Amino acid sequence: MTRMLHVKVAAIKQLTPLIREFLLEPTAGKLPRFSAGSNIQVRLPTWGRVLRNAYSLVSDPDDNSHYRIAVRLQEASRGGSRHLHEQVREGDSLEITAPSNLFALHSLAQNHILIAGGIGITPFMTYIEELERRNAIFELHYVYRTGLTDAYVDELRRRLGERFHTYDAKRGKPLVLGEVLEHRALGSHVYCCGPERLIAGVRQCATALGWHQSLVHVEAFAAPEPGQPFTAELVRSQRRIHVAADQSLLEALEQADIEIPNLCRGGVCGQCATRHLGGDIEHRDHYLSSDEQAQMLMPCVSRCGGRSALLLDL
Ligand code: FES
Repeated sequence: MTRMLHVKVAAIKQLTPLIREFLLEPTAGKLPRFSAGSNIQVRLPTWGRVLRNAYSLVSDPDDNSHYRIAVRLQEASRGGSRHLHEQVREGDSLEITAPSNLFALHSLAQNHILIAGGIGITPFMTYIEELERRNAIFELHYVYRTGLTDAYVDELRRRLGERFHTYDAKRGKPLVLGEVLEHRALGSHVYCCGPERLIAGVRQCATALGWHQSLVHVEAFAAPEPGQPFTAELVRSQRRIHVAADQSLLEALEQADIEIPNLCRGGVCGQCATRHLGGDIEHRDHYLSSDEQAQMLMPCVSRCGGRSALLLDL
């Protein structure tokens, strides 16, 4: 059973019309320490269903008296970000998981190139704390829409000076990845967090310029896409679980009190791998090889195509 921590929403700040920052304080004692790039899951009871969304921490990793997260209101929200934006008030209680890190800084890198798109700035807020503490060489490239997704721009400009490069998605100088990634010294690593298109662009450009893939680190936004409703049959326990159109199989299993280990809830970390016994499976993860998909699926993102029942070895 995942141990949940109890926190109070001590303050809420509207950073942009789409992004709110939440300051979370423990109801007792201190919170667990965390490393730069960590995230937490927030338990969100929304309209009769419980979601657990992952958000990067943006507060100083050295200060465990509180956590801060910044949440973008998603247009196609399944209820999680909307609940945080519209229902949660200062003084409310929330349950969160302890931090985990799927996007850590590379310890041997000598030059860190950070590329953020929109709310993808969040893991880099803790990176910057850590890189400044290490006196490391780094630069931050930030693509955003002014007045909508430009969280922390003024603070970063003041703090980073010439190491900070901004690109308004609507006007001004565009981000040219080739210029950012070419002719880099040995020991350079690039990190990207943002929309799928930006991540794919960084990967392609780095490959074309001869970067080894071990030097390229990415974190995609992890959110399950909706699909057709379906029923999963749990063969060993002889149970049938209904999965609604806007619910992940993992969420439906959790709702039925079946705990599956998980971290990213977006098909990238491999934690929730579950053995299946057949069915019409839509694999949507970025983790399993096609050979592995013949035996396993990732319930945080994968679904049943609906033409035959999905059988799970549970
Ligand atoms: S929780 Fe990470 S792949 Fe499912």
